[in-house]
Amino acid sequence: MRNAVVLAAGKGTRMKSGLPKVMHKILGQPMIGHVLTHLNEVHTDKNIMVVGHGAQLIQDYLKDQVLYALQAEQKGTGHAVMQAIDQLDPTGDTVLLYGDCPCVQSETIEWLFESNKDHDLTVLTAFFFDPAKYGRVIRDKKGRIKKIVEFKDCSPNELKVKEINTGIYCFKNEALIKYIAQITNNNAQGEYYITDLVEIFLNHDLRVQAISVKDNEEVMGVNDRQDLLNAQRWIQKKINAKWIDNGVTFLNPQSTYISLQTTFEEDVVLYPNVFLEGKNHIRRNTTITSNSFIRDSRIGQNVTIDSSRITDCVIGDNVNIGPFAHLRNGCQIGDGNRIGNFVEMKNTVMGQDNRCAHLTYLGDTEVGDDVNFGCGVVTVNYDGHNKFKTKIGDHAFIGSNVNLIAPISVGTNGVIAAGSTVTEDIPDDAMAIARQRQENKPGLGKKYIEKK
Ligand code: UD1
Ligand code: CA
Repeated sequence: MRNAVVLAAGKGTRMKSGLPKVMHKILGQPMIGHVLTHLNEVHTDKNIMVVGHGAQLIQDYLKDQVLYALQAEQKGTGHAVMQAIDQLDPTGDTVLLYGDCPCVQSETIEWLFESNKDHDLTVLTAFFFDPAKYGRVIRDKKGRIKKIVEFKDCSPNELKVKEINTGIYCFKNEALIKYIAQITNNNAQGEYYITDLVEIFLNHDLRVQAISVKDNEEVMGVNDRQDLLNAQRWIQKKINAKWIDNGVTFLNPQSTYISLQTTFEEDVVLYPNVFLEGKNHIRRNTTITSNSFIRDSRIGQNVTIDSSRITDCVIGDNVNIGPFAHLRNGCQIGDGNRIGNFVEMKNTVMGQDNRCAHLTYLGDTEVGDDVNFGCGVVTVNYDGHNKFKTKIGDHAFIGSNVNLIAPISVGTNGVIAAGSTVTEDIPDDAMAIARQRQENKPGLGKKYIEKK
């Protein structure tokens, strides 16, 4: 059996924040989501999250993706693991991860499971030029790991050691379950350190090894907002490099922000300051220009998105959007549509080849094919209490500055004269004119101007 335990109960005092540390976002996704994404890429039978500070927030976010253990009071990493111990399988291996190490890749987790086959404990270490406040890995003359000493407990000589404990381990469950109770809090911080198990295991002739990670930066821990930025930069670089290798053109990858869950086909072009959050899929030959923000959406082929915001939408092929359009709440836009500047759409479903080029709001609207919207069309979908639907049939022509008071429908080939406020359904092939007739008063214009 393969288990994983992720520690995420700490407050993260140095973040200076009301939010629990692991809920701070990297590329739009809480740090703990990054850890879980990589963990999910590895086969495990059980993942247990130890939560304490902000437990509710974390559980609301991760829901039933993991099992939970509550650590009500934070008495150290050893104490945190004790809270999860009853949920572990009696045999097998457990990888221990920290919720504040968001860069750890699935290959590294897999490597730890495999490396621990003939051991009871494998410690992942790194060599840091500046080992700072990390725990130091102390080896004997033969190079075997002897113990891990926390920064605050180090002798001057131990402080000089450059090999540090990453905080990532793999344990044999039998040994972990048997010996975890032997950890004491007899140290500088009065905490139960999981790192004490190195010495405890060795004292019982168990097999302990320390192996070091290939890329030191992968194991960086986030303790303050400076670390958070460093981790974000590292992850951003890694994600963008992957897509550059897979046929995406970036004008400036340093200022393009792409979530772990976004995927692309070939020949997508991304301008600077593009933000793609959540789970998106962008199809081939699509271009997204600066200051576009897209979340949880699917975008078709040969689409142009120009400085626009799109959330929770599905966009077809050959669609032009923007500049400055806003599509949200489940819009489904078919192929060949044109959605121009200052157009907002909410929960609107569109067929093909419609033109909605300027200053328009469509809410809760169903549109057929080949409809033309003039400038400034508004669906009046909300009466202050309830939302109502608008339906517009194929080939309809909606004049400029038309208000459609919903619920309402416009038939196939329906035409609405500019400036109309329509309140009743318009049958197929009909024209609606709903405005006052114009009156011209001879001479009155000149008189008015001369008076000024
Ligand atoms: C820990 C290691 C240290 C290692 C470093 C790597 C111990 C004793 N020390 O130190 O050797 O170099 O990580 O980053 O393990 N947590 C809980 N409950 C607690 C305490 C911590 O859930 O009671 C969680 C925190 O939320 C955090 C993680 O465990 O995600 C690490 O805790 P932290 O206090 O940051 O440990 P370090 O002092 O960094
Ligand atoms: Ca830490």
